[in-house]
Amino acid sequence: MTILVIGACGQIGTELTMKLREIHGNDRIIAADIREGSEELMASGPFEILDAMNSSQVEDVCLHYEVEEVYLMAAMLSATGEKFPEKAWDLNMGSLFIILNLAKEKKINKIFWPSSIAVFGPTTPQVDTPQHTIMEPSTVYGISKQTGERWCEYYFNKYGVDVRSIRYPGLISWKTQPGGGTTDYAIDIFHKALNEKEYECFLEADTALPMMYMEDAIRATLEIMMAPKEHIKIRSSYNLSGMSFTPSQIAADITRHIPEFKIDYRPDFRQEIADSWPGSINDDRARKDWGWKHVYDLETTVETMLENLRSTTGSSIDKPTKF
Ligand code: SER
Repeated sequence: MTILVIGACGQIGTELTMKLREIHGNDRIIAADIREGSEELMASGPFEILDAMNSSQVEDVCLHYEVEEVYLMAAMLSATGEKFPEKAWDLNMGSLFIILNLAKEKKINKIFWPSSIAVFGPTTPQVDTPQHTIMEPSTVYGISKQTGERWCEYYFNKYGVDVRSIRYPGLISWKTQPGGGTTDYAIDIFHKALNEKEYECFLEADTALPMMYMEDAIRATLEIMMAPKEHIKIRSSYNLSGMSFTPSQIAADITRHIPEFKIDYRPDFRQEIADSWPGSINDDRARKDWGWKHVYDLETTVETMLENLRSTTGSSIDKPTKF
């Protein structure tokens, strides 16, 4: 099976590509992005420079490699999206249509497309948010993800396109920096705790958000893609949950490992985004339909992050996005 990962050099794409190469063999996984990625990713298998919004480029790569599955990971996230609303809409929607249409024309067989907790909004019930509920997203990113979900379901119903999707919570990882999300504080905090022993958080102390360790998120992605077609009952996107915590809770956990660590709170424009999102997510449907189970909680995530970041020089890790 040949798989194309678009956005392979991003936070999720990097780890997803390496995992897929481990499973299917390096040559079968085509990594593509608008820029080059880590040495490990570039050296381990085929790579194409690709603009996810250029339909003929995307189609050429799919036909050239006889691609069967596409993971479309290119997107502009919530915080950057608020700075560049039209660009975010164009990228997030344009790239999705290209891939959905390739599947409609039977040029590829299966699609993974990530959605997000950003599909929810201020009027959504914030605790244990159900799969089906009020969705009035207030960010461009959220609007693009909610619209994308509707189109995925539409392409499945009308054209039989096998598209599968997860509403990722905030993802915590150490290999690649995230690119401009509201949940990025939960990664920045580790880098600052280790290097400077202090962190100025851009969210308030008690802002609870749903989060997940990257290893769980990658496993969920592979599991939903490998599940028998008839088990995938939701063709918009599945709620997915790992843990839920506030900045003060993660800071307290880090302090158990780095006692001198101090945190300050200076909320910026991202506070309003975070306030519009749920604090915790109900993912019963993912657990029931395709057997989802998370492994990492806050304690194991903190331990694993600190351990891995301590053993890297940090030189290969990009700097966190500044606003
Ligand atoms: N992590 C994303 C963001 O903060 C949410 O999907 O934008």
